Amino acid sequence: MSNKNQQMDSSPTGKRGDSATDNATNAAWGGRFSEQTDAFVEAFTASVQFDRRMYRQDINGSRAHARMLNKIGVLNEEDCHAILQGLDKVEQEITDGNFNWSIKREDVHMNIEARLTELVGDAGKRLHTGRSRNDQVATDIRLYLREQIDFIINEIQRLQQGILDVAAREADTIMPGFTHLQVAQPVTFGHHLMAWFEMLKRDGSRFADCQQRMNMSPLGAAALAGTSYPIDREFTAQQLGFTAPTENSLDSVSDRDFAIEFCSAAAILLVHMSRMSEELVIWSSAQFDFIELPDRFCTGSSIMPQKKNPDVPELVRGKTGRINGNLISLLTLMKSQPLAYNKDNQEDKEPLFDTIDTVSGCLRAFADMVPAIICKRESMYKAAKQGFSTATDLADYLVRKNLPFRDAHEVVGSAVAMGVSTGKDLSELSLEQLQQFSDKIEADVFEVLTLEGSVQSRNHIGGTAPAQVRKAIARARAEPASKK
Ligand code: ARG
Repeated sequence: MSNKNQQMDSSPTGKRGDSATDNATNAAWGGRFSEQTDAFVEAFTASVQFDRRMYRQDINGSRAHARMLNKIGVLNEEDCHAILQGLDKVEQEITDGNFNWSIKREDVHMNIEARLTELVGDAGKRLHTGRSRNDQVATDIRLYLREQIDFIINEIQRLQQGILDVAAREADTIMPGFTHLQVAQPVTFGHHLMAWFEMLKRDGSRFADCQQRMNMSPLGAAALAGTSYPIDREFTAQQLGFTAPTENSLDSVSDRDFAIEFCSAAAILLVHMSRMSEELVIWSSAQFDFIELPDRFCTGSSIMPQKKNPDVPELVRGKTGRINGNLISLLTLMKSQPLAYNKDNQEDKEPLFDTIDTVSGCLRAFADMVPAIICKRESMYKAAKQGFSTATDLADYLVRKNLPFRDAHEVVGSAVAMGVSTGKDLSELSLEQLQQFSDKIEADVFEVLTLEGSVQSRNHIGGTAPAQVRKAIARARAEPASKK
């Protein structure tokens, strides 16, 4: 993220991080303590190393809170103005990489507040009136995640767009469809790709759903019980673009369902992408030879000069492991936690942030790569011809001529056995040969035995007929972006 260039001051003699109070006990709770926090414990309990990426959300939350305190008369005009100006300055320093993050100030919230106080004096110390880091962090994460979900949904749609383009190009391209990874029935490549499209459509709607549910403001719940100030929670909710304030203060500071839901939507997405990856890996092998991935998405081997490895799909397949792991981490983190806030919750951020980064990277790689897939149509066609993929079509033909399906199945089984022993596809056996198995077989049988006839006959909503694939693509393109 953008914070890489920022320094972390963990030395007791650091510059700006060392206000007079830092050398004594922690500024935020020093009053109660008679000795300094152990240096290791200080580092062990800090979260600023990773939560500082929420600095914009933290500052926006503070802006809303300050305006609200001013509105209800708890913060005077002058202090409110000083805070808002100071927050602008802090934000600028952080964006410019000139902010001195200090582990002594534990987390993003206290780093920003301490710097604000350095800049604007007592007004800065008034900002924390009627709020706690507990409602502050819950607010920050929701704001941060809400924004990241916009980006993720956008990337899913970009990938879907690429899939639609390839599917349109390959609506007539015949390939073998598989069950048990054995050739089953011919399908079109466009149809196969539209299956991917559907998976991603559900993924997109899961993220949108999770985003909508999380869009409530916990600000004002304070530490756990609310606050004795006459705060206006509707006002802060509205300032921050939330639908409404959350209902219950205990739940507000301890709820991390939104993070779990996000990681769960991410895990399902990555499971889907791992399946797509697996297919890309198989298809690009010399044994299948259905597709080629452009060189820019592959790497070579340092020892075997002939190798071109499908690293991108392999890596996406592999990253599914950590995404599933992150979901389990969060579920386990929350399990059995009593109300309300517990420090355990600080552990929510790393799995969550890792999920955001990993999912964004995987989507970006796929959205760039999928439209560039090179389809080897002849190879696909040849493979579809090899596995007796029109056997069901022959059975259906016999059923249309009034043979019971089970008998038809038997007849076709015998014809396939002949094909196997003579090394021929069903469509390559002669009419006489086929008639040995049933006198219901006539010259028109060859229409259903061809791959083209087979796919064209599956001509209903959801079927593989090229005409249906085109209709599915048209429906998908006509959908509003939010539904894609
Ligand atoms: N850094 C903390 C977290 O991420 C912020 C809340 C701390 N609250 C507290 N009572 N210690 O959870």
